[in-house]
Amino acid sequence: MSKLQGKVAVVTGASKGIGAAIAKTLAKEGAAVVVNYASSRAGAEAVVAAIHAAGGRAIAVQGDVSQAAQAQGLIDAAVAEFGRLDVLVNNSGIYEFAALDAVTEAHYRRQFDVNVLGVLLTTQAAARHLGEGGSVITISSAVTHVHMPTAAVYAGTKGAVNALSGVLANELAPRKIRVNVVSPGFVVTEGTHTAGVVGSDLEAGLVAQTPLGRAGQPDDIAGVVAFLASDEARWLTGENITASGGIR
Ligand SMILES: NC(=O)c1ccc[n+]([C@@H]2O[C@H](COP(=O)([O-])OP(=O)(O)OC[C@H]3O[C@@H](n4cnc5c(N)ncnc54)[C@H](OP(=O)(O)O)[C@@H]3O)[C@@H](O)[C@H]2O)c1
Repeated sequence: MSKLQGKVAVVTGASKGIGAAIAKTLAKEGAAVVVNYASSRAGAEAVVAAIHAAGGRAIAVQGDVSQAAQAQGLIDAAVAEFGRLDVLVNNSGIYEFAALDAVTEAHYRRQFDVNVLGVLLTTQAAARHLGEGGSVITISSAVTHVHMPTAAVYAGTKGAVNALSGVLANELAPRKIRVNVVSPGFVVTEGTHTAGVVGSDLEAGLVAQTPLGRAGQPDDIAGVVAFLASDEARWLTGENITASGGIR
């Protein structure tokens, strides 16, 4: 039986990469999915078309998660279209790498705005609609414990997300809403291509340190998220699952 039949899910940053794979997997498991994007409308529409072609339900909704009104608008659009909200996946994120001497206020603010404030604002908006059995899943990163040079700010954003998710797990538990984190290791995506990691010595080094011996793929993460979204994970809250092929 499909794990998410009858549920409605919002996936932020689902126009490409890990978010696109999560959106398609949740839809395959029976959820109606809101495919959020910030700038890549064509990418989001392609994800929606793939879900429709497979017999699923989905819409694309633009919104910058770091702007309160847009985060609220995204959640409101989901409820207006599908009548309820059961699952929020906070996947939107940006990563930029800089040695300490090259860190700037703009580098810090860009990443904290999307990766931390965006998670807070979208979860706040979603919590106004989630009911008993609701599930919030936030994509963090194994970078918080791999301690990669040049990732101080990015790792800081994900450390913040881990901490705030633990707090929100306790805060929303009385309403029977679960809050969990998935921390991927290196994953081949449009973002890691653009950042120059795919094909680099950095990728080779990360794969060499990965016990299962290969780079991660978006689908490796999507299945873990679908599990956490489902009632099979009903006794899990405040957890942080590292999905990294064993690198830690
Ligand atoms: N890839 C990895 O190795 C890896 C490892 C660990 C954790 N992660 C985390 O996994 C998540 C996805 O990474 P990825 O590699 O799949 O990234 P990606 O390919 O660069 O895709 C990023 C997604 O986030 C969206 N986004 C960016 N800024 C946004 C904003 N202000 N509001 C709403 N959406 C926004 C983008 O939308 P548009 O394209 O429409 O602008 C895009 O859909 C991130 O949180 C990242 O930190 C990735």
